[in-house]
Amino acid sequence: MPQIETILTPALFHLHHKNLDEKQVVVIDILRATTTMVVAYENGAKNVIPVESLEEAFKHKAPGVILAGERNGVKVDAFDLGNSPQEFTRDVVEGKTIVISTTNGTKAIEACAGAKYRYISSFRNFTAMVNQLIENNCDVLLFCAGWKDKFNLEDTIFAGAIVEKLGENGFEINDDASIMARSLWQSAKSDLAGFLANASHVKRFKTLHIESDLEVCLKFDSFVLLLAYRLMGL
Ligand code: MLT
Repeated sequence: MPQIETILTPALFHLHHKNLDEKQVVVIDILRATTTMVVAYENGAKNVIPVESLEEAFKHKAPGVILAGERNGVKVDAFDLGNSPQEFTRDVVEGKTIVISTTNGTKAIEACAGAKYRYISSFRNFTAMVNQLIENNCDVLLFCAGWKDKFNLEDTIFAGAIVEKLGENGFEINDDASIMARSLWQSAKSDLAGFLANASHVKRFKTLHIESDLEVCLKFDSFVLLLAYRLMGL
């Protein structure tokens, strides 16, 4: 029976990296990196290349390539776009290659480079993601990007939603973090925005006047495709 484990922050990743080549890793950065990458594909981006550093991003600068991302939630000055999913409209991204670097999400993606499968997930492609994990039928590592190695609510709640579904489909829940994440999801699911009203990232949104991103990031199943790192043309 395949097992599920949840990494609550990148600071704990070193405790779970054994046998990564046998596992499917789901990278979770709901506010906003992985949501934004999914939206880019929803709106016809040719591919999305997550990179950890700004230096790496600038190396990709070329005609037709969009540089996107943020540090501390604020758009990088020399980039074309920030990290709000609302910037990645069809008229901006369709057919383009997007190179993106963010504070936490792209760093987490890079950290699990050795995984058998590496997925970019969000509420917007939730069902496609869960169905693929079930089809692959091997151990799952849910990797919460958090905030600068700290725990955050939104990524853990999303992880709990996946734990709940996989638990209903024969996966063994093998750790306390997954059990806690599922309980948090079950407490929050009837009113996600309400539950997250006092979350640290939502407070950061208010400070940066980007509150409207929250609704976009909490939307369920607007996209029926999953984003497998390998399938992202990478
Ligand atoms: C992150 O990478 O932590 C987030 O995407 C930051 C943000 O966009 O606010």
